[in-house]
Amino acid sequence: MKVYVYKSVEELSKDVAKLIISNVNKNPKCVLGLATGNTMLPIYKELVKDYKTNQTNYENVKTFNLDEYAGLHYLNKNSYHYYMKKNLFQHININKSNIYIPNGIKKDLQKECDNYNELLQNYPVDLQLLGIGTNGHIGFNEPSTTFTPFTHIVTLKDSTILSNQKLFNKSSEVPKKALTMGIQNIMTAKHIILIATGDSKQYAVKKLLEEPISPFCPASILQKHQNVDIFLNTDSAKLLNKTNLIKKTA
Ligand code: F6R
Repeated sequence: MKVYVYKSVEELSKDVAKLIISNVNKNPKCVLGLATGNTMLPIYKELVKDYKTNQTNYENVKTFNLDEYAGLHYLNKNSYHYYMKKNLFQHININKSNIYIPNGIKKDLQKECDNYNELLQNYPVDLQLLGIGTNGHIGFNEPSTTFTPFTHIVTLKDSTILSNQKLFNKSSEVPKKALTMGIQNIMTAKHIILIATGDSKQYAVKKLLEEPISPFCPASILQKHQNVDIFLNTDSAKLLNKTNLIKKTA
């Protein structure tokens, strides 16, 4: 596991975007695992900027999003479908039929999870992007007594609802349930990049990297993966032991 610490979130985002672009250029049929949230916004901005300048070709790239709220229509501005379209997909030449996001308005959500698992088995993720929740969640795999391996329906923790309420009018409007890839789905990716920026992530980052693997910090499972890069800024890295960190001056 390599841990990079940046002074500037802008430089960090540029480097992560470069990594994604180089994967797409090397393997134009690659499968990308994508995340939503504030952390990803500057990275998607860089991808859009690059597309405008270099026309990086996404025509044959497949994407799988980690998660989606249950009960939100894809046209709802708070859905992750909407977020992805607005911040990335509408700006690049991705083929609509290559975009996969769990559908939170399907009548049978369990069946939707099962279908998603099957798709993920058929198209293993090459590069998975992850953010991290302040409680250590990845995707919407919330702290719990066990790791859940496959795509499942999850009840969101109050802390997650609170963190995510900014985009909603009131916290009562944040859906209480979501669909998320499971831990084994995530761990199957060939290469994982986790990005954490800002003060609010410092405790989760400490647990992820320096405490024993535990389902109470789902992200800690990444310690077992063979090919993980962690991108932090100085704020989120504050509590870490300084050895083993790769410092970026920018
Ligand atoms: C979103 C997702 C979540 C977020 C995490 C951090 O698709 O999978 O795990 O990555 O909640 O969110 P931000 O970046 O908004 O702090």
